[in-house]
Amino acid sequence: MRPVPLAVGRSVPRRDAAAKVTGAALYTDDLVVPGAWHGVTVRSAEPRARLIAIERDPAFDWSQVVFLTAADIPGENVVALLTDDQPVLVADEIRHVSEPVALIAAPDIETARAARDATRLRTEPLPPVLDPLASERTIARYEIVRGDVDTALAAADLVIEGTYRVGHQEQLYIEPQAMIAVPRPEGGVTIHGSLQCPYYVHTALGRALGLDPARIVVIQEETGGGFGGKEEFPSGLAIHASMLALRIGRPVRMVYDRHEDIVATTKRHPAVVTHRTGVMRDGRLVAQDIDVVMDAGAYTTLSPVVLSRGALHAGGPYLCADVRIRARAMATNMPPNGAFRGFGAPQTEFAAEMQVNRIAEALGISPAALRRRWAYRAGDATPTGQVLKSSVAAVEVLDRAVEASGFEQARAARSDHRGVATFAGHEGAVAPDGVAVVGGGPRFARGIGLALGWHGAGFTGSGEAYLASIAGVDLTAAGSIRVLTDSTEIGQGSRTVLAQLAADALGVPVDDVEVAPIDTSVVPNSGPTVASRTTMIVGALVMRAAERLRAEVEARTGRPFADSYAADVRAHGPARVDERFAGFPGIEWDAERYRGDAYPCFSWASAVAEVDVDLDTGEVAVRSVVQAVDAGRIVNPVLAAGQVEGGTLQAVGYATIEEMKVADGRFLNDRLATYVIPTALDAPRIDALFVEAPFLDVPHGAKGLGELPMDIPAAAVVTAIHDATGAWIHDLPATPERVLAAILAAEEAGA
Ligand code: MOS
Repeated sequence: MRPVPLAVGRSVPRRDAAAKVTGAALYTDDLVVPGAWHGVTVRSAEPRARLIAIERDPAFDWSQVVFLTAADIPGENVVALLTDDQPVLVADEIRHVSEPVALIAAPDIETARAARDATRLRTEPLPPVLDPLASERTIARYEIVRGDVDTALAAADLVIEGTYRVGHQEQLYIEPQAMIAVPRPEGGVTIHGSLQCPYYVHTALGRALGLDPARIVVIQEETGGGFGGKEEFPSGLAIHASMLALRIGRPVRMVYDRHEDIVATTKRHPAVVTHRTGVMRDGRLVAQDIDVVMDAGAYTTLSPVVLSRGALHAGGPYLCADVRIRARAMATNMPPNGAFRGFGAPQTEFAAEMQVNRIAEALGISPAALRRRWAYRAGDATPTGQVLKSSVAAVEVLDRAVEASGFEQARAARSDHRGVATFAGHEGAVAPDGVAVVGGGPRFARGIGLALGWHGAGFTGSGEAYLASIAGVDLTAAGSIRVLTDSTEIGQGSRTVLAQLAADALGVPVDDVEVAPIDTSVVPNSGPTVASRTTMIVGALVMRAAERLRAEVEARTGRPFADSYAADVRAHGPARVDERFAGFPGIEWDAERYRGDAYPCFSWASAVAEVDVDLDTGEVAVRSVVQAVDAGRIVNPVLAAGQVEGGTLQAVGYATIEEMKVADGRFLNDRLATYVIPTALDAPRIDALFVEAPFLDVPHGAKGLGELPMDIPAAAVVTAIHDATGAWIHDLPATPERVLAAILAAEEAGA
């Protein structure tokens, strides 16, 4: 028997890398579909209005196009998700700007667009609700209570309050939304598209098209990023393309350009988070009273679960006996917000970490020492009463990030003369009030900031049990080994990681394992590719299925699987083993009372950011971010580091420059030229460090990783700005305007 090197723990090259870097990879818009027509969407221009009529310019030749409205929906006028409140097309009331009202298809895109330009919506405006704090319609609400927060606050030496505001964030995947619908000869439809969750699309199509699920096939094509933005949104687009295709009897392609993608698709929920934290002079944390309000937008989409995750993470990874977390998501007439990497946690963890840093300053205690004192250890209980039994590495990641970044040394070096002008080639002088005094040239100040965070892996509460995901491994008639899941590759490396896990469980070289195409006629429903669940949940199912297949084959052949599976297929034909998720031992969740085990386990991260602030312009350059992460066992170090680097950079953008300007319910900076994200030139040096505290209830020991790196760097960056300037900023992003205003306010307060 030849020795087979283990694949797990090695940086096996990404399976999709070669095709992507050579340009061979075909994305949905690259697919050549002979005879396909082009679909476009007629959208509302008002945040709220009654739809009176859809008027078509008689000068246009309408015979060359197909035009569909809500009356043409074959099934229910609903994009099925959590709550059936979002229509496929507006029937009577427009509830947000850019809402789909009608669909047009033509043989070429120019004609389709001309028809759209020749369409007018006759409406009667209604008063919109644009401020979530003024909204009277609650989409979701939670209250998490532990102990008696009012009594504890009254007994605290110090109560520190803070209100933090975060705005929309656009996912800005490289490839915009794209979908091709192809009618099936026997009735039904096949979808080819850019998407994260094939079975979400499948279910939604069945409802809106009124089709037998057996007549619907969803195929994921090469997908240029998702970040949550292709979690729920593609369902509606797939319905649109399918309606047109089924009406015409030909394939229809609908590909958004960047402008349409920005105006029409979901964003990260804006939030207002208020904390009242009770502490004792010696640094003890005695009470946390937290209020979270999110702007859901016009429809429910995923807001209840985004809010839930935000609320469950809102206290930060800190032990506190008396906690109250109240959270609500309010309906407005903004375009609906949805999934985005972190899923509610970046909003609330920003507030939590800002609060800790402000408290550390108020108490005169190092932010690292304060966190070391407060952070969860194994055996501690969270606000829902979840006892963290094992795999708790909050202190370990904190120590790792603090050491690797030289955090304490940098702080000590600056502690009594903040505001040193530290730029190359310029002589800087120091003033005690934090403003560098220099003659003429630019004035910079450097600062450093710390944050600590956590992220529950997998669906919240009973979500995973409800999904009951299935994954499989099969030996095909052709003698190959295939992993069968619907987990989509969206750039994170899932195909590579799942192959590594299967290979080790089977005892074969990783190159011997194929991963089946994501096609609902081939692969089982292993759940959506979201919630940092693929490696932990689906990967574990794949390993268990592989172990059973291996045992089955070895029992038949009496020889190691690697040496005998080919002969076994020849002798006995193909074999397939499916594994269904059956829960984790000892995990119990009470969704009514919001008590119990909110997640099977948590991952942990600590980030240290260093910034330079231009004191004259308020511009912030993030120089470096060190992020230490415990996501359990690391399956592929290069891919894992990529997750940390990408998430960190998205968080740096969130912290400093990504700002959706909104007026009258519409996004103003709805182009790549105006919605700015960090480029390679803006990217700091990012160090991704791993501490491995394996999760023992899965065979590979891996926990969730994808979202965690997005959760906390923003607080580290904004605290570094404070360290540099003396000014606290409470709202994201810390734009030059906000930074300058905060510096001026701090100077005035100090004077
Ligand atoms: Mo995600 S933000 O759970 O796709």
